[in-house]
Amino acid sequence: MQKVTTVSQLREQIKQWRKQGLRVAFVPTMGNLHAGHIKLVEKARELADKVVVSIFVNPTQFGEGEDFESYPRTELADQDKLIQAQADLLFLPTVFEVYPNKATTSISVGKLSTLHCGAHRMGHFDGVATVVTKLFNMVQPDIAIFGEKDFQQLAVIRKMVQDLNIAVEIIGVQTERESDGLAMSSRNGYLTEEERSTAPKLYQALRKAQQDVLQGKKFKIIEQEQKTLLEKIGFKIDYFSICKADNLQLASENEEALVILAAAKLGKPRLIDNIFFSK
Ligand code: PAF
Repeated sequence: MQKVTTVSQLREQIKQWRKQGLRVAFVPTMGNLHAGHIKLVEKARELADKVVVSIFVNPTQFGEGEDFESYPRTELADQDKLIQAQADLLFLPTVFEVYPNKATTSISVGKLSTLHCGAHRMGHFDGVATVVTKLFNMVQPDIAIFGEKDFQQLAVIRKMVQDLNIAVEIIGVQTERESDGLAMSSRNGYLTEEERSTAPKLYQALRKAQQDVLQGKKFKIIEQEQKTLLEKIGFKIDYFSICKADNLQLASENEEALVILAAAKLGKPRLIDNIFFSK
């Protein structure tokens, strides 16, 4: 696997591949890679000739008091995993390489960015949309792969790509889970042993809510029951909401395509998860 740190090195390699008519897939990450990320790389390999992975902990998507400084940086272990997964190129830029001057342009996707996580992490999705646009401009991939665990992020990126006519096909990959159902996340490492045994209850609550929806229970009642249950066992809920799968606005009982979105703090980490389905 080739490793580059500058945009010009990256562009040089991509240019060579383009000349050979090769199809390029891109997997943007913030590192601390786990089996969920490796699934994204595998999907990229399946769909393209060359796979570029970036590791960049993007400062503009972290708010005041969030974990930018302490976000786990495990570059050597990440590189080994990417070699194993047969990625072709690792792009590992510095903050200065990505933000070389005091940029004043940022991408804001609008309403979708202000719901759910956006309401609890002000400016988060503007930071994500801006860095993903910059990375797309740097890599110029044919396709880009994202995890469905960050369902709202995926929706924001799809909307941005559509609105700005960005010529990248966006592929979502199913959430990778631990054997007890906990969605894999780089932030799971913050959980204490006790919190770790409680954490899978978030996914259990989502599944119970899904069953209740399918049995015709009122959405408001389902949401309130699951929030109360989770709060009793130590979660601090940001939201637990039954939404329309396309625009993530709150759904009414006659909606067909649904996603249940949840975010809650459990000790230090804030866990997010979702379940989407059709009635
Ligand atoms: O999902 C992530 O890891 C990040 O939000 C992303 C897409 C790499 C942008 O920094």
